[in-house]
Amino acid sequence: MGFKTRQIHAGVTPDPVTGAILTPIYQTTTYVQPSVDEYLSKGFTYSRSGNPTVRALELKLADLEGGMDCATFGTGMSAIHGTMLAFLSAGDHAIISDVAYGGTYRLCTKVLSRFGIEFSFADGSDPDDVESAVRENTRLFLTETPANPTMKCSDIEAISEIADAAGAVHAVDNTFLTPYYQRPLELGADISIHSTTKYMDGHNATVGGAVICKSSEHADAVRFIQNSTGSIMSPQVAWLTMQGCKTLSVRMDHQSANAMDVARYLEAHPKVEQVVYPGLESFAQHELASRQATGYGAMLWFEVKGGLVAGKKLMDNIDVWSLAENLGSVESLITHPVTMTHADVEKAERQRVGIIDGLVRLSVGLEDAEDLIGALDAALEKT
Ligand SMILES: Cc1ncc(COP(=O)(O)O)c(C=O)c1O
Repeated sequence: MGFKTRQIHAGVTPDPVTGAILTPIYQTTTYVQPSVDEYLSKGFTYSRSGNPTVRALELKLADLEGGMDCATFGTGMSAIHGTMLAFLSAGDHAIISDVAYGGTYRLCTKVLSRFGIEFSFADGSDPDDVESAVRENTRLFLTETPANPTMKCSDIEAISEIADAAGAVHAVDNTFLTPYYQRPLELGADISIHSTTKYMDGHNATVGGAVICKSSEHADAVRFIQNSTGSIMSPQVAWLTMQGCKTLSVRMDHQSANAMDVARYLEAHPKVEQVVYPGLESFAQHELASRQATGYGAMLWFEVKGGLVAGKKLMDNIDVWSLAENLGSVESLITHPVTMTHADVEKAERQRVGIIDGLVRLSVGLEDAEDLIGALDAALEKT
């Protein structure tokens, strides 16, 4: 069946007791067992280890990504952490995209490095750079593409081949494009990770994460960490995320169309220094972005002439767009990564990978494109 049918129906069956069309929120800690010998006969024992509402979402996400199974987590960061704990031990090495969400960089450099795990940050836009980072003890590759916030794209197929040759697991952070536009498992990756906080929920209502694995062996390893660390998604969050998933394709298509309109408007504006959106022909990796995904998504960034000072003026004086962290929601958001999402990345490292001080990130929402452009126009006037 097609994606749009599966985003609504996969993982969900009418409630066996009442026929309710929506999977109920099973707000329960434990599950009464019929007898000692029939322990687990209904599939659930204790809500850290599994919950029917959460399970319905996991089955839906596994289906949408084309994976064997999915484990959900309390946040996107705990999904990334859970993946790292599943495949890395002291003495192991991981290769991470050199542009990635600031929290991922912080987890590697400030937390897991304390436990004897080694990290290299490689330029995912250049498979040779990734290959040259491989060591004898490389066990995991984590590719974020397109990357937050510069939109750098990495060739999932090429990096999967390098990971395969190294005998390592390749995980892709697919948060920006979702399986509607990009399916890492079909491009050779082993794992697809999401901050479900973003497009999967889509309504700024929850924080959550998901890890979808191609093999049941990898899924078991991730699920073991999920249960052992207790890093789980709550049934309310799973329920809200499940409702969000049902309109994923509709939101993605409209938000991406809005993003294209906004990008073209900014590109033509005399006060704008540069605009970076994978859908623009001027995007340096437009060919790769078009080849490995079926859409360009709704994230972009631009720099106002006058750099940081002018950019701050714009962000402080704009209507319709909310100055806030997060992305992927129906509300359009404007963010200054250097102050907000990537503040924990050292200045020198930020500059090395192109996170310039004047970078203004846009998460384009579902409002009327004319209103979004009108608000940008008025704010640019004031810079
Ligand atoms: C690409 C990407 N991955 C992971 C995360 C972390 O997700 P969460 O905030 O749900 O922990 C974010 C957060 O912005 C992100 O942008």
